[in-house]
Amino acid sequence: MFEESVFSGVQPTGNLHLGNYLGAITKFVALQNDYKCIYCIVDLHAITVWQDPDELRTNTREVAAAFIASGIDPEKNIIFNQSQVSAHAELAWIFNCVARMGWLNRMTQFKEKAGKHRENASVGLFAYPNLMAADILAYRATHVPVGDDQKQHLELSRDIAQKFNTDYENSIKAAGYENGFFPLPEPLITGPATRVMSLRDGKKKMSKSETSDMTRINLTDDAELIAKKVRKAKTDPEPLPSEVAGLKERPEADNLIGIFAALKNSSKEDVLKDFGGSQFSAFKGELVDLTVSKLEPITTEIRKLGSDPAHLDQILNAGAERAKDIANPILDDVKRIVGFVG
Ligand code: TRP
Repeated sequence: MFEESVFSGVQPTGNLHLGNYLGAITKFVALQNDYKCIYCIVDLHAITVWQDPDELRTNTREVAAAFIASGIDPEKNIIFNQSQVSAHAELAWIFNCVARMGWLNRMTQFKEKAGKHRENASVGLFAYPNLMAADILAYRATHVPVGDDQKQHLELSRDIAQKFNTDYENSIKAAGYENGFFPLPEPLITGPATRVMSLRDGKKKMSKSETSDMTRINLTDDAELIAKKVRKAKTDPEPLPSEVAGLKERPEADNLIGIFAALKNSSKEDVLKDFGGSQFSAFKGELVDLTVSKLEPITTEIRKLGSDPAHLDQILNAGAERAKDIANPILDDVKRIVGFVG
């Protein structure tokens, strides 16, 4: 009914780390073989919280560089930054009028991000999930690789698509669409969910906003720094278990084994077959070698691409043109369906 395609977005808010790499970017790389993929650097989302303009530019290019350095082919897929394609913002406005206050009031991420200062949060931060729905639906994308933290937002996208389809049912039929205008986008879960946790607290997600840099491995860290961070990663006094069940109640051990498995494209079971009974010190040595060997070529390439921003901008511009070619005709249909003259 709808042609299958993938859309995902990454915020250019700085400090790409191992969690972004294993949790998102490697999945994006794998998907390009099976789907038409659109990967968007969501600068409009980023400014829902104030960003320094120079840093925003740098971070946007850094995400583009990380995508390409990790193996996403910008010819085969579309890589671009959101603000270059006005269809996102235009469709988001229409969705602001489709989504209900009650729906957005339930979004846990807003509650977490706004915290006690709700009155002071930007309107954009509150309406952010509507923009995310617009990102996906501007391309009538059917599949969205997302982490756990974005599942609720994706459900909201489905609710918006559904409500638009019913609110404008007659007009949609009159425009020649028999089965609704928007698809209900589905989460795409590929392989075991890789949730990379902080190196200092196995119960917290690895995050760019954590004050201590020792909690994360950045895609720009050199071998020496990676080694230091892994060696200092929190552990517990027991040797490693031989079975996955033994990782229960041992969040730090679970996290390090999970990272090793993901980097090796293997499973926790298999990693524990090799390391069950080992001390952390021995395991950490291997983890350092593996992490460095995987990340070093990517880091080097990110640096190389970063040294030629004009080239990166050219890639983003070309991607934006291709994105417009898909999104603009869809937006034209939406405008007609809603009743805008033009
Ligand atoms: N909200 C996502 C995040 O913070 C980023 C994002 C924006 C996104 N638009 C999207 C993800 C569309 C998937 C699809 O991680």
